[in-house]
Amino acid sequence: SLSVAVAAIKDRIATTWEFDGDGDGSTITAVVLGSGLGSLADKIESAVMVPFGEIPGFVRSTASGHRGQLVFGTLGGRPLVAMAGRLHRYEGWTHEQVTFPIRVLHAIGATRLIASNAAGGVHPLLSVGDIVVLSDQIDWLHRRRQWARPSQSDADSPGFPVGRRGQIYDPDLAAVALSAAREGGFHAVLGTYLATLGPTYETRAEYRMMRRIGADVVGMSTAGEALTAANLGMSVLALSVVSNVADPDRANVADHAEVLEAGGAAAAKLEGIVRRVISGPNA
Ligand code: 6GU
Repeated sequence: SLSVAVAAIKDRIATTWEFDGDGDGSTITAVVLGSGLGSLADKIESAVMVPFGEIPGFVRSTASGHRGQLVFGTLGGRPLVAMAGRLHRYEGWTHEQVTFPIRVLHAIGATRLIASNAAGGVHPLLSVGDIVVLSDQIDWLHRRRQWARPSQSDADSPGFPVGRRGQIYDPDLAAVALSAAREGGFHAVLGTYLATLGPTYETRAEYRMMRRIGADVVGMSTAGEALTAANLGMSVLALSVVSNVADPDRANVADHAEVLEAGGAAAAKLEGIVRRVISGPNA
């Protein structure tokens, strides 16, 4: 359960980390590192690693390009915990298993979530390496049995499951991210994320459909984590790195190696945005 997981973490890092934001009053930021974006974890100061396997209730990250640990510490002096190695529905985990770490991070005091991912660029003007700051999402993963049983205990969405779907992503954080990109001299735009189950990429007909339904980027993660965090009252920012172009007019199939490589190349952009967001005026 949640309290057991929180206790296990507090045991491991009690002396190095100030909980519940009652230390110097800094907001604690949780960062989820997507495919190929794990290098940000190496920049964390006074880092304490806690492997998923040592946290009751955490399942193992099996996707390649993902480590499986929480990294606690600071970045630019601000408290930060990075989830290096995210969980995906295509690995067979349920929505509850995939989003459990978000609940745990919230319970140990994180009030802000920055989720990152490598995604296919669906909008025709996107190129590999571009950053898309998510403004909304189309969630093809959130079809849960619980919807038919609203009485079942579900902290995600008590009672009838509506939650914060009207405003998942924080527009102020998105604005900070866009100006960080501008200052950093690289391209970032707002866009809508489409979450698919995967693990297969799509057909050209599917990319054509995705454009028409209003998706700008497509990936296999983030949507559930973002919704859970928003429902817990966290401020949520999500960043997609365009790792490949989802072009309905070209018969090239995306492959996992190219997704990881593009992630690695864009890691510096991601880091610039994260540093700027956590050092901002309401940090
Ligand atoms: Cl093209 N599709 C999906 N579903 N996920 C992706 C992707 C494409 N590129 C990176 N992740």
